[in-house]
Amino acid sequence: MKVTVVGAGAVGASCAEYIAIKNFASEVVVLDIKEGFAEGKAMDLMQTASLNGFDTKITGITNDYSKTAGSDVAIITSGIPRKPGMTREELIGINAGIVKAVSSSLLEHSPNVILIVVSNPMDTMTYLVHKTTGLPKNRIIGMGGALDSARFKYRLAEALEAPISDVDGMVIGGHSDTGMVPLTAHATRNSIKVSEFLSEERLAQVSEDTKVGGATLTKLLGTSAWYAPGAAVSSMVQAIACDQKKMFPCSAFLEGEYGLNDICIGVPVLLGKNGIEKIVKIELTEAEKAKMKESAEGVRKTNGLLTL
Ligand SMILES: NC(=O)c1ccc[n+]([C@@H]2O[C@H](COP(=O)([O-])OP(=O)(O)OC[C@H]3O[C@@H](n4cnc5c(N)ncnc54)[C@H](O)[C@@H]3O)[C@@H](O)[C@H]2O)c1
Repeated sequence: MKVTVVGAGAVGASCAEYIAIKNFASEVVVLDIKEGFAEGKAMDLMQTASLNGFDTKITGITNDYSKTAGSDVAIITSGIPRKPGMTREELIGINAGIVKAVSSSLLEHSPNVILIVVSNPMDTMTYLVHKTTGLPKNRIIGMGGALDSARFKYRLAEALEAPISDVDGMVIGGHSDTGMVPLTAHATRNSIKVSEFLSEERLAQVSEDTKVGGATLTKLLGTSAWYAPGAAVSSMVQAIACDQKKMFPCSAFLEGEYGLNDICIGVPVLLGKNGIEKIVKIELTEAEKAKMKESAEGVRKTNGLLTL
């Protein structure tokens, strides 16, 4: 499997690192517009290979898409990240142009590629790729829910004082501070509902901490996070590479599912060799349905800022 990562910045390099360490891809190409930057990151990562025990070949290139030819999966991380106090939506002006140009260049050289969109505002960027490339919807996947769910599990484990491996939970909806819908009513600790252990108030706090998970880190770091985003992407790529049919909440183009049409937003999907193999429909509570509807309205508002 050949994987291209566009953007050798914080998130792109973390994606390349985790994909290599998991050792399921033969080749990872990292591309950046900044002269020599991707080459440097790739060389540094390759010098960890003997230490970390992987055989994946990582190469870096400056803006030459011919080197990405024949990629099975490409990850779009190019664009600006937010600074403290910014929302993801504020990035649309610069990132839309970058994401549109990058997806078109990728497809020129890899017509069969599966695209994973990471750049923010991610649901709108995924919608943009859908509208401008004409690719079948199974081959355009937005990464947000896998990360938000990992943050949800971290916060649940903290509240439960339990190991993270005892906890399961999922976040659907838009990848924004207000749009995320942590499914607290469905979350479990060793298959027992977490509401058996945590008060309604504590669960509401877990939800709130999850939704501002990215903003909390941006405030601490001065820029947005990269380890967990890279790990989330690498798990998704592994599910595709190994045809795992593994469930992740991902931003997918909806045609009636969850009562929504003509929008990309986070819903549970199965990832396998064809990308999105299936959109999984789960029964939501009335409160979750209302939150999902509100979340979709927020995503549509941002989509309205696109010039398609
Ligand atoms: N979806 C998510 O869950 C999630 C999580 C974290 C970050 N993000 C987003 O990912 C993006 C990248 O974040 P980061 O922290 O890695 O930023 P960064 O600034 O560290 O890296 C971005 C890289 O993109 C490169 N770039 C810019 N334009 C390019 C182009 N046209 N072609 C190729 N490369 C180009 C830059 O040179 C830079 O190296 C941001 O938009 C951020 O908001 C999304």
